[in-house]
Amino acid sequence: MLKGRSLIDPMDFNTEELEEIFVLARDIIKEPEKYIHLAEGKLLATLFYEPSTRTRFSFEAAMLRLGGKVIGFSEPNSSSVSKGETVADTVRVVDCYADIIAMRHPKEGSPKVASMYSKVPIINAGDGGHQHPTQTLTDLLTIKEIKGSLSGMTIGLCGDLKFGRTVHSLIKALSRYDNNKYVLISPYELKLPDYIKKEVLAKNNIEFVEAQKLEDVIGKLDILYMTRVQRERFFNEEDYIRLKDSYILDRSKLDNAKEDMIVLHPLPRVNEIAYEVDEDKRACYFTQAQYGMYARMALIAKLLGVA
Ligand code: CP
Repeated sequence: MLKGRSLIDPMDFNTEELEEIFVLARDIIKEPEKYIHLAEGKLLATLFYEPSTRTRFSFEAAMLRLGGKVIGFSEPNSSSVSKGETVADTVRVVDCYADIIAMRHPKEGSPKVASMYSKVPIINAGDGGHQHPTQTLTDLLTIKEIKGSLSGMTIGLCGDLKFGRTVHSLIKALSRYDNNKYVLISPYELKLPDYIKKEVLAKNNIEFVEAQKLEDVIGKLDILYMTRVQRERFFNEEDYIRLKDSYILDRSKLDNAKEDMIVLHPLPRVNEIAYEVDEDKRACYFTQAQYGMYARMALIAKLLGVA
C-alpha cells in the first residue's frame, strides 16, 4: 500500500511496489486521457532549495496532467527560508496547504527531516550528493520500457561517481534485480564512494570492475549511464576544471559499442555527450526525461491514493 507514504530513499519501496508504479506509468503512457481528472482537488507543493529543470517541471507537469494544482518555490530566497525558517517549520506550514510535497535540498537528509514533521507525503527530489529516488524511478522505467527487463544487464556508469546522487540511487535500486554487473568508469578522484561498494555491491555479491578509460570497456555494455561532473559539489574550482572533461562520448567511441546498447543521462549535460550522439538510435536520454514525467504521475497518484 503506497497511499500516504513518503519516498526518501530508493529502497523505501520494495520491488512489488515499484512494479505497481511501472504498471500504472505504462498505462498512463498508453492512454493519458484516462487520467486527466485523477488528482482533481489535490495540491502538490514543490519546495526547491536548489536549481532544477527536469525534476521540478516534470513534477509540476505530472500534477497538472493528473488534473491537480501546484504551488511552491524554485528560489528559496523568495520564501521565509531567507529569514532563517527551518525545513521542519516550513513543511509544518506547507502541509496545512498541500496534499503532497516534493523537496529538493542541497543538504543531505533534509527531505528525511521534512518527512518526520510532515502530515502529508514527502518526495525527495534530490538531497545534496546523497540520493535522487525519483530520477531512479525514471531510470528504471526507461530501462524496463526500452530493454524489457531490469535484470541481466552490464551497466557502465561513467563520470562523477563520487558526487552523482543519481548513480548512488540507481545502484541501490538495481541491487534487488538479478544478474546485473557494473563497470564503474571514473577518474581516481571521482570514484564511487566505498560505502556503496561495501554496503550495496559487495554485500549483495554484485560483480563490478573499475575502469578509467571509457573506450576500453564500452564494447561490453548493455547500458551506458553518463553523468556530469558536479561542479556545485567541488570544494575548489581548479579540481573541477581539471576533471570536468574527463569523458566525452562521441560518435567514434560509439562505433565500438553494441548495436542495442542504450545511452542514458539524467541531464543536464555539459560536455560529456557530444551533440552528434543525439542522432544515434542508442541515445535515449530525452526519452528518459519524458518518462520522468510519467513515472512522477504514477508516483503522485499512488501516494495520494487516487489510483
Ligand atoms: N535530472 C535532474 O535531476 O535534472 P534537474 O537538476 O534539471 O532537475
